[in-house]
Amino acid sequence: MMRTQGIKGPSYKFIHGNTKEIINMRKSVKSTLTELSHHELLPRVQPHIHAWIKLYGMNFLYWHGPQAQLIVTEPDMIKEIFSNKDGAFPKKELPVYMKKLLGDGIVATKGEKWLKLRKLSNHAFHAECLKVSMIPAMIASVEVILERWRQHDGKEIEVYQEFKILTSEIISRTAFGSSYLEGQHIFDMLARMGDIIIRNSYKITIPGIGNIVKLSDDIESEKLEQEIRNSFINMIMKREKAAMEGKWGGFGSDFLGSLLLAHHDTDKAKIISVEDMIDECKTFYVAGQETTRSSLTWTVLLLAIHTDWQDKARREVLELFGLQNPSPEGIAKLKTVSMIINESLRLYCPAVQIPRIVHKEVRLGKLILPANTEIIVPLLVVHQNPEIWGEDAHLFKPERFADGIAKATNSNTAAFLPFGLGPRSCVGLNFSVTETKIALAMILQHYRFTLSPTYVHSPVHLITMSPRHGVQIMLEAL
Ligand code: HEM
Repeated sequence: MMRTQGIKGPSYKFIHGNTKEIINMRKSVKSTLTELSHHELLPRVQPHIHAWIKLYGMNFLYWHGPQAQLIVTEPDMIKEIFSNKDGAFPKKELPVYMKKLLGDGIVATKGEKWLKLRKLSNHAFHAECLKVSMIPAMIASVEVILERWRQHDGKEIEVYQEFKILTSEIISRTAFGSSYLEGQHIFDMLARMGDIIIRNSYKITIPGIGNIVKLSDDIESEKLEQEIRNSFINMIMKREKAAMEGKWGGFGSDFLGSLLLAHHDTDKAKIISVEDMIDECKTFYVAGQETTRSSLTWTVLLLAIHTDWQDKARREVLELFGLQNPSPEGIAKLKTVSMIINESLRLYCPAVQIPRIVHKEVRLGKLILPANTEIIVPLLVVHQNPEIWGEDAHLFKPERFADGIAKATNSNTAAFLPFGLGPRSCVGLNFSVTETKIALAMILQHYRFTLSPTYVHSPVHLITMSPRHGVQIMLEAL
């Protein structure tokens, strides 16, 4: 059906579809070193998409096992998909292991339940909460990291690991009244679940066979799921007990407090179950940390290479804050830093692609898509499309964003979508950007940094876009 409409792609192979070809292409780039150019990002991170776009054009179809996946890269079509209001392009069911990681929470669910959960998290992460309680907690968490960095003055430091601790600490403190250390066991278990997802992302199982043969990953993931569940139940019960003892003034005004308040709501329509609470906790532990960690790491890499932009950003930070901690008003005025963050999110977008599914036969642009076609919007391709961004699309040029995102994209909302688009776009956008600005500002106040000679450029698509061997920089205290 798609072929008759001019859509091409690699042909279907029995059981595996095209996944074996994808695995082979990923393996072959793994063994090659990449020079430090952003030009190489797509061939490195999604070699199959790079190769097939060349062969079949900007929109093409391939097979993940028996599932047809249509790659869509044209902004008008992307806008249509994400802004559709009658449920034509819903979220797709999460794959088995991903479901164990995130449950049936805000990321996957639809309809009334999604609306209820979305309202809860909008409320917990709205601007006033950010300003009053979250910004001070973010600053305190960065201070701890910077204190540790003192021992690295004049030496190398690996920031991907550093930012794991920082972003874990920040989401623990701001949303759950906890800390990285207290939640370390949970973060470790979630990371092990993440490893299982990555290992299985291109494995095809024959439907039904999982009920007969249990794979070692099934056994491990079931065990992890249970342990993660127990840990969150303990955390929830601890807060409930503290609330009963009057320690939090109600259940607390953070995200965990909002979840408990909704659980105990007298209005039936607003109540959420214990399982919902657990799923939301899992989701925010994962989504609140991995993505911002990746974004911060790539931004620091870019500033370590482009030291002219590092100097410009530092000048701005020092003009606004001197050596004082960032204030909410000043954070909103960080123009150069915002341009740099946007350019970093354009090139090294942590969420590499966004999936949807076709609910029932539907028109998209000029195409008629059959029900159950999966749609994949590869952000890397959109963000580096020379027709949108110009021939220098692969270069780091924060000046693109000097007059804001609308100007940089010619008001094409679907040309820059690191946080998604439409009603299901990222609920943590402001939280994440504020966190990134605070961390960068405070690092720039105290350190100059350059890339370490030991750094090997090897971006890879795991759950987010990640540096396979970390990012090593040389620190020099100011
Ligand atoms: C640089 C950092 C981040 C990036 C690039 C990012 C990216 C995204 C994207 C692309 C989506 C849309 C997915 C889709 O349409 O299917 C999304 C959704 C979401 N993000 Fe983020 N995110 C980031 C940080 C965060 C943070 C810090 C949190 C939590 C505090 C968070 C929580 C969520 C949630 C809960 C959703 C699902 C929203 C819904 O379906 O209603 N994200 N994110």
